[in-house]
Amino acid sequence: MERREFLTWMGIGSLAASLPVVLAACQSETVEETADPAAETAAETGDTAAAAGDSEVVGTLAELDGDGFILNESASIGPVLVVAQPDNPTALEAVNPTCTHAGCTVDWDGEATEMICACHGSRFATNGDVLQGPAMDALERYTVSLDGDNVVVSPA
Ligand code: FES
Repeated sequence: MERREFLTWMGIGSLAASLPVVLAACQSETVEETADPAAETAAETGDTAAAAGDSEVVGTLAELDGDGFILNESASIGPVLVVAQPDNPTALEAVNPTCTHAGCTVDWDGEATEMICACHGSRFATNGDVLQGPAMDALERYTVSLDGDNVVVSPA
């Protein structure tokens, strides 16, 4: 093997040896970019609630006082129904209003202080527990809190 041929093979060998390192560097950069797109979007828009996790403002105390409930069907964590506990109006409950029987949206009955599903008659307590079937499972609950006048929910 001549000297020139030897040097050419050494150059190709060096390139081949460094290829896995280059690929690994590119791969870890890709993972970092897609690690948390929601947080990245929140950071860009200044949405601090979303940046802090999955918590989200779904309405205001004024809406709750006026209507007796908040129904937000477009929240990013899913549909949300917020009501006050009947025996403690300052304590709030938040549930996913999707009926666990067959998926209809339950309605809030302020007089009965229950959630009622018009499809087949299931009834749920303010905390989502089943009071009457045919639904067998409680409504999904959310954690609810107040941030000033804003009602904020997050997954339980
Ligand atoms: Fe609610 Fe059937 S879907 S009771």
